[in-house]
Amino acid sequence: MSGRLEGRRAIVTGAGSGIGAAVAKRLAADGARVFTCDLKGEVDHLADVTVEGASAALVEAAVEAMGGLDTVVPCAGIAAFSPLEGHTDAYFRQVLEVNLVAVFRLVRDAAEHLKQAGNGRIVTIGSTTSTYGDEGLCAYSASKHAVLGFTKSAAAELGPHGVTVNCVQPGAIDTPMTAPAFEEMPEYRTFWENKAPLRRLGRPEDIADVIAFLCSDDARFMSGHGLWVDGGAMVRH
Ligand SMILES: NC(=O)c1ccc[n+]([C@@H]2O[C@H](COP(=O)([O-])OP(=O)(O)OC[C@H]3O[C@@H](n4cnc5c(N)ncnc54)[C@H](O)[C@@H]3O)[C@@H](O)[C@H]2O)c1
Repeated sequence: MSGRLEGRRAIVTGAGSGIGAAVAKRLAADGARVFTCDLKGEVDHLADVTVEGASAALVEAAVEAMGGLDTVVPCAGIAAFSPLEGHTDAYFRQVLEVNLVAVFRLVRDAAEHLKQAGNGRIVTIGSTTSTYGDEGLCAYSASKHAVLGFTKSAAAELGPHGVTVNCVQPGAIDTPMTAPAFEEMPEYRTFWENKAPLRRLGRPEDIADVIAFLCSDDARFMSGHGLWVDGGAMVRH
């Protein structure tokens, strides 16, 4: 539905690749102004979101460029696959820093603007591992469970100001994050294709389209949700 995000002003992080790039494109196609951030790539704002003060600077730059801010979609994230005994302290902290702490900081630093807007929208990116665990994913699933918990509490706190906060939980999506693993282990790709009743991996657009809906007025009475967008894979976990 073209034009349904007309007038919205959104920050999208991780917009240089994969899901974040698809989100930026879809929100813009629906009429939103979008301010993109990533470590690299053709974005409006190059920054490492884990650096202290980076999210405040990002919000300031976005507000200046767009004249306000009502929508935040933090897509920056890292994959992390390692046996528990290979998890060093630094590794565990780094996964939490990118996938959780940076999300918290951006939401905190944007909150005042979203409250002022009166119809703010925040969509965090969890994972099916926000609900389940798996071997090799101790740090990753801890970060993604925490993002879902953070989403619910932020929804409780920001709701009285008209801000909705939801968490999209993608299944296995074909992006530069997963490509090396799928290339190295084709059986892993086949496993996920077969696990999903829809019998395929997800595409970044499958996630971006749901996020655009959550940012739209159609989703005005939805908040605090974790939504699996996984081709149905989790119905038989
Ligand atoms: N691909 C999947 O199967 C899948 C499944 C579930 C959840 N997710 C989540 O979706 C989100 C996007 O993943 P993707 O698959 O599009 O990955 P991707 O690697 O294609 O994109 C992630 C982007 O985040 C950026 N980024 C990473 N660390 C950053 C930092 N410190 N500062 C700024 N930018 C940074 C990267 O440069 C990259 O452009 C992540 O949170 C990921 O955990 C992905």
